[in-house]
Parts: sequence; structure tokens; C-alpha cells
Amino acid sequence: MRGLRDKVVLVTGGGHGREQAGSSLGQAMCVELAKEGAKIVVADLTQDRAEATAEEVRAEGGEALALPVDVVNEASVKEMVDAALAHFGRIDVLVNNAGVFGAYVPLLEIETSQWETVMDVDLKGVFLVTKAVLPSMLERGEGVVINVSSASGLVASEVGAEYTTAKHGVIGLTKQISYDYGHQGIRAVGIGPGVIKTAAFEGAEITPDFPFYDLTMQAPAGRYGEVIEIARAVCFLASDDASFIHGHTIPVDGGSPTR
Ligand SMILES: NC(=O)c1ccc[n+]([C@@H]2O[C@H](COP(=O)([O-])OP(=O)(O)OC[C@H]3O[C@@H](n4cnc5c(N)ncnc54)[C@H](O)[C@@H]3O)[C@@H](O)[C@H]2O)c1
Repeated sequence: MRGLRDKVVLVTGGGHGREQAGSSLGQAMCVELAKEGAKIVVADLTQDRAEATAEEVRAEGGEALALPVDVVNEASVKEMVDAALAHFGRIDVLVNNAGVFGAYVPLLEIETSQWETVMDVDLKGVFLVTKAVLPSMLERGEGVVINVSSASGLVASEVGAEYTTAKHGVIGLTKQISYDYGHQGIRAVGIGPGVIKTAAFEGAEITPDFPFYDLTMQAPAGRYGEVIEIARAVCFLASDDASFIHGHTIPVDGGSPTR
């Protein structure tokens, strides 16, 4: 892909996900972006999680800096972004990927604390990290912001109202970043993954008990997505090959039906 070599890309939630070895979307994005020649800042809740991915990037011959961050905490976000800028001198691409899932229950069963956690991490986190990174991009007059929404950012689903609402919000926020700063060189785009086989699924037999089984199997692709399919789409969106895509969120979901 054009234009990724030597670009500095910050991926939040880029560590190994869900306490398990294996792939999370952020981890796969970091590795694939590094294969395209990008320099990676892996930011995750703990240094260890971030470092695990950074080591994989280095093992592939890439350059990576691991940093801890809680995307919900403004001071932590500022510290992480300052450290990234001090190390690499700039951030060319920000991937707002950190996220948590819903409780898979109907609205009346959602605890208020659960609602707040998901809204905080999945929506406010995108706002806070973008707010911290944008000034340095604007100073240079260029930058790409990629927000990871979800198929649940476009339709209602079993994952729950708190997740659906936050991910719809991410799509709105992406449009607004584009509206506010597109004319100043910032290209904001989103990606809406369908159900992807991350570490949580690995080795598991995919039976009708799996979340979204019906929705996934009815979709034209008729299967769960692989992390690499999202990671490669992020490489494309980050690259100059996507230079005329502004403000939109691209579904990468095997053609999940909308409803
Ligand atoms: N896996 C899927 O099927 C799927 C589908 C659609 C959208 N998504 C979205 O893709 C993104 C990544 O999902 P995943 O499946 O790889 O999940 P995951 O749980 O494997 O990874 C999420 C990462 O975010 C980090 N994180 C969580 N809270 C954080 C915080 N407060 N500060 C910093 N980091 C934090 C976690 O430590 C973890 O490394 C999420 O935004 C998710 O909503 C995933």
C-alpha cells in the first residue's frame, strides 16, 4: 500500500486482548501496519500487554514503542501521547481501537455501571485520544484518524444497547472530526468490523451457541471474519490508497444484513 513506509501509527488497545495469547484486532493491526513499513506505538491498559505486541512487531523486523494508557483517563492519555511524540517526533496515523463489549442482555437488564463503562471506553476514549493527538497533526497540516466502530455501529444487535449506542456514536464522531478538521489536512475514517474470530474464539468450535451465529451465517460471506481481514483493511484506510475516503465508516463484515 502506498505511503505507509516510515509513518508513525499509534494503535490504542493494540496489546494482546482478553488476557489470552493470540490475536486481538489491535495486535493484528500493529503487526500488519509494521509489515507495510510503519513505525508503531502500541498503547494498552498495561505495559506488559502493549509490550507483547511490540515484541512481535520487532520480531518481524519492525520498530515499536509500547506504552500503557487508560483511554478513559485524560491525564493517562496525555502522558501516553506526549511519550509517543517525544520518542518518534510525530504521529501520522491514530487508530482508536481500544474497546470493551456489551453485556449481551436487553436494555432493562443493563446495570448503569455497565452502561457507563462501555460508553466511557468505547466513545469517550475515542474523543480523549483524538483530542490529545490532533493538535500535533494540525500543526503539521496532515494526519489520519481511524476509528474502530462495529457492525453494531450500524444496526442493533445481541451485544446490547450500551455497545450499540457507543459504536453508533463513534460513527457520528468520525463524521464530526472529518467535518471539523478535514479542511485542515485531517482525514478521519471509520471501520465497522463484523464478528471476527479473535483470541476469544480460537480453538473453539463455532456452534449455534456462539454470539451472532445466525446473523453471521446468514450474511453473504457465511462465516466469521479473521483478524487479518480487519488488519489489512486498516492498512488500506491508513494508506494513501484511501486518500479520497473522508468521514465514512466502511463496514468489513462479510455483508451482515442490516435491520
Ligand atoms: N472482535 C470482534 O468481533 C469485533 C467486532 C466489531 C468491533 N470490534 C471492536 O474492535 C476493537 C478491538 O476488539 P477486539 O475484539 O480485538 O477486543 P479485545 O478485547 O481483544 O481487545 C481490546 C483491547 O482494548 C484494550 N482496552 C480495553 N479498555 C481499555 C482502556 N480503558 N484503555 C486502553 N486500552 C483498553 C484491551 O486491553 C484490549 O487489548 C474494539 O473497539 C471492539 O469493539 C470487535
